Amino acid sequence: MLDIEIQPADDSQKRPKPEDENKLVFGTVFSDHMFIMNYDEGKGWHSARIVPYHPLSLDPATMVLHYGQGIFEGLKAYRCHDGRVNLFRPGKNWERFNRSARRMCMPEIDPDFQTHALEQLLRLDVDWIPKKKGTSLYIRPTMLATEAALGVRPAKQYVYYIITSPVGPYYPEGFNPVKIYVTDKYVRAVRGGVGEAKTLGNYAASLYAAEEAKKKGYTQVLWLDGVERRYVEEVGTMNIFFRIGDELITPPLTGSILPGITRDSVIHLAKHWGIPVHERPITIGEVIEKAKTGELKECFGTGTAAVISPVGELYYKGETCVINNGTVGEWSKRFYDEIVGIQYGEKNDPFGWIHQVPIN
Ligand code: COI
Repeated sequence: MLDIEIQPADDSQKRPKPEDENKLVFGTVFSDHMFIMNYDEGKGWHSARIVPYHPLSLDPATMVLHYGQGIFEGLKAYRCHDGRVNLFRPGKNWERFNRSARRMCMPEIDPDFQTHALEQLLRLDVDWIPKKKGTSLYIRPTMLATEAALGVRPAKQYVYYIITSPVGPYYPEGFNPVKIYVTDKYVRAVRGGVGEAKTLGNYAASLYAAEEAKKKGYTQVLWLDGVERRYVEEVGTMNIFFRIGDELITPPLTGSILPGITRDSVIHLAKHWGIPVHERPITIGEVIEKAKTGELKECFGTGTAAVISPVGELYYKGETCVINNGTVGEWSKRFYDEIVGIQYGEKNDPFGWIHQVPIN
């Protein structure tokens, strides 16, 4: 395994910590240190180091700036009431990171080294992990193509870094239901494209529709498939679940949808609890029809940043469907409580999802 050189921040390089954990928002403040390493074709990954958080210096011809060859991950460190620090299924993030890397013609990183590098970083910035339940230290591993060249081809040089940010809820609504705008005008991804990779361009592609939705008073966009524009895919930063009658339905992973780790956890829990759960294509027509008949009892999004986010209203083609009277559903609450309980070490962890970070 690569050695990691550690250069702790001196007092002048330390950053102001947020004073009030109740006022944490998502991703605007960053901790004192970052992990960083470089890759050169023929040499592999090298120069692994933890250094004070600092801006990157990039040549204007840097390939990621032109062609978007970049990927990232998102996970969180949770502080338990007894001081332990937990990660939730980090191996899944490293697996997905390497899948994204392969799809984007980028070098992979050894998952054990990823965990090791992150643990070293968290040890140094442990005081940045907020204590209040519902807050956490959001972790953003990122890889960018750094070679300076304008030909369209995979780069020969990359940087990989991990930055961390103390966060509160992703949505200003917190755990309250969000309003979602279903668009059939724009699409996020198509089968055979890069929708299942956590790559930069997917997020850029989502902005225009998200801004339109926001102007109309909606929190996020629900995307439909790119061909027929009928099948539900995912929400801006979340996967989506519907409770129809007493069954749970979520779209299958067919290549254009991000394989969410919270999505996978909900499916696991549902099976464990004996709730029938189906990964099957579902059209927006079916969703609206079931909403009208009252069979659509709940709808919620899942994601690392958002955890479980109940959906209280769907807007589609001039119609508004209110779900569960715009209140938090029973199942949404049950999944939320279980997942959050496991993350903060308050509930049993029957599936071995928790990775405890050795802090001392
Ligand atoms: C996450 O849920 O961690 C994400 O990456 C979604 C978003 C903040 C980009």
